[in-house]
Amino acid sequence: MQNVKVYPLINKEEIEKKISELAEKISTDYKNKDLVLVCILKGAWIFMADLVRKLTIPVKCDFLGVSSYGSGTESSGVVRILSDLTIQVEGKHVLIVEDIIDTGLTLKYIKDLMLQRKPKSVKICALLDKPARHKIEVKIDYLGFTIPNKFVVGYGIDYDERFRNLPYIGYIEFEEKK
Ligand code: IMP
Ligand code: MG
Repeated sequence: MQNVKVYPLINKEEIEKKISELAEKISTDYKNKDLVLVCILKGAWIFMADLVRKLTIPVKCDFLGVSSYGSGTESSGVVRILSDLTIQVEGKHVLIVEDIIDTGLTLKYIKDLMLQRKPKSVKICALLDKPARHKIEVKIDYLGFTIPNKFVVGYGIDYDERFRNLPYIGYIEFEEKK
């Protein structure tokens, strides 16, 4: 049997400060524009909730349910849409809000899907980026933190549906149970 242990990586205060900076940039860049924030569920849920409350411009919020992982820590490479948007994004500016960019495959799929709907623009806002794992080139327009090649959890992000409720971001390691 294995025990999962969580080690702290980014604390609450650092996250809050970074989100304020991102919100300020987004509020400036999208001033007087018709903006729809698309939260990628489930991982980006808490990030999105904190981010939108710091924006100073009017926005619409929508949610896209996707699944790219099974219950392990490796990408399956297959993206499944579990629930779609309810807002029409044609002619609007779309900002995809994602928790973490790992291989980049999920994001590429989602960006292409959004582009098919003829929005005015599609940009990416990601809380975390793991560049060591990229399999394709990924352009992140608004980024929180670059992180090392560790499996992270907390602040909405899970390992096998656990740890989403941690108020900070940590990484996990497995140890043998005695
Ligand atoms: P990608 O397609 O490999 O870029 O995977 C992106 C998605 O996998 C993210 O939106 C997360 O849901 C999940 N993911 C990637 N890395 C981690 C991690 O370190 N912890 C938890 N989930 C992760
Ligand atoms: Mg995700």
